[in-house]
Amino acid sequence: MNQPPLRRRASWLALERHYEQIRGTHLRRLFAEDPRRGERMVAEGGGLFLDYSKNRITDETLKLLLALANECDLRGRIEAMFRGDKINRTENRAVLHVALRTPRDATIVVDGVNVVPEVHQVLDRMADFANRVRHGEWKGHTGRRIRNVINVGIGGSDLGPVMAYEALRHYSDRAMVFRFISNVDGTDFVEATRDLDPAETLFIISSKTFTTLETMTNAHSAREWLLKGLGGEEQAIARHFVAVSTNPVEVAKFGIDTANMFGFWDWVGGRYSMDSAIGLSTMIAIGPENFRAMLGGFHAMDEHFRTAPFERNLPVLMGLLALWYNDFFGAQTVAVLPYDQYLKRFPAYLQQLTMESNGKHVTVEGAEVDYATGPIYWGEPGTNGQHSFYQLIHQGTRLIPIDFIAFAHSLNPLGRHQDLLVANVIAQSEALAFGKTPEQVRAEGTPEWLVPHRVCDGNRPSNTLFLERLTPAALGQLVALYEHSVFTQGAIWQIDSFDQWGVELGKMLAQKIIPELENPAEPVLQHDSSTNELIRRYRRMKAALG
Ligand code: F6P
Repeated sequence: MNQPPLRRRASWLALERHYEQIRGTHLRRLFAEDPRRGERMVAEGGGLFLDYSKNRITDETLKLLLALANECDLRGRIEAMFRGDKINRTENRAVLHVALRTPRDATIVVDGVNVVPEVHQVLDRMADFANRVRHGEWKGHTGRRIRNVINVGIGGSDLGPVMAYEALRHYSDRAMVFRFISNVDGTDFVEATRDLDPAETLFIISSKTFTTLETMTNAHSAREWLLKGLGGEEQAIARHFVAVSTNPVEVAKFGIDTANMFGFWDWVGGRYSMDSAIGLSTMIAIGPENFRAMLGGFHAMDEHFRTAPFERNLPVLMGLLALWYNDFFGAQTVAVLPYDQYLKRFPAYLQQLTMESNGKHVTVEGAEVDYATGPIYWGEPGTNGQHSFYQLIHQGTRLIPIDFIAFAHSLNPLGRHQDLLVANVIAQSEALAFGKTPEQVRAEGTPEWLVPHRVCDGNRPSNTLFLERLTPAALGQLVALYEHSVFTQGAIWQIDSFDQWGVELGKMLAQKIIPELENPAEPVLQHDSSTNELIRRYRRMKAALG
């Protein structure tokens, strides 16, 4: 049955009317009218606890948002993903990152093949390799053990590994060095390798396609660096390079023996791949057991997402709340503020996950959308952000919904630090929600002229995710939570959250411009006048420097 366009659906129209009634309602009033709101508007699932009471919603809002999810057949979409249907329509692919963390005895069929045994075969090979490297059994060309592991990749082939390494550094082998090279800017390569001995260095070339300009350029520089350091002996490559890819042909062309390749599948999107073989550096760092614990965390959240009723389903609730602010309040961003130093790269990781997935302007059917899709995700760890951009969140003119992430236990207990850290995250959500009224400011004896400057309006919404401690399983739960929140939003917006055609144009133009920069003869330029001039200027500056 053909559904009307999103904004003409009954539940959307009801939400529009409801928004008009509720938009001015203050969180102070919502809490005053329902003193147990903070105990009621919480949810637990997949190992995580969420307090969503400090959102600008009532029970009616939730009811309507859930009705929207139902009207958009979110349940059917979830089932289609888990079943292995080709829901990535523009690339005609299944979307099965959930298969990467299913138990061995599960069955998920894609194109007539149960993919679960293949997943575990790769995991077992990764575990074997990781153990050999960790135990010094996998030696470099000169017989020295590997002490340095460098992941070379970009986008999903970098952000997941680097985020996971930083997040789980506490569990990592401290005798080893882990580095990540992504940028085609030579500085990234040079700084990552300058103090390392090639004889003790292993490169993991991570690229789903094995054709990405940045990764291939860095991989070739790595090859040269290694050969130069080891006397140019080609046989050294086999001991110092492994590949993670879906493309054995290109891996072999590069000169890496496909016996040293760890595969994954086209049904794993780059930004959904940190728990596939792309996580090889993570596994070497934290060991196979911890890696499997992380997969367990992912799976727990997958099961919660698949089975929990929507009103208690964390990814669904968070997805719907993000959509509520994005499409009805006109909020353009979501800030994710983890109060744990180990999660310092988590917001950067989420940027690709959320924005590459839901930054789309047409529906799956190709129709232009007339509503806002993916918000801008950003963030920094607390408490640093408090002394930087929080001012704008507290008193600026924009509405910025927030996800706070806090942990009860520190992995590095140190005096009062954890109490101070947690006090701050709780205080921020309280201050943002309730603010400070002019009366409160005056009661402090503030001169009248200063009162408006010191007033905080409050009514600034936030979620708080409270976890016990940052374990590998907790990281898996958190990542899967956001993956499925993104899915929820994309399903309602009816977009393809799993393609990324927008990044192609820039890549293609760069290919055209490269020879125009490098050609010794003055090229005939046929771009616009700005682009032509920038190319000419670069050529002049380059020539002037010799
Ligand atoms: O930026 C586009 C993109 O295709 C991402 O989706 C992907 O994660 C990244 O490039 C890297 O791709 P690959 O793993 O194929 O090198």
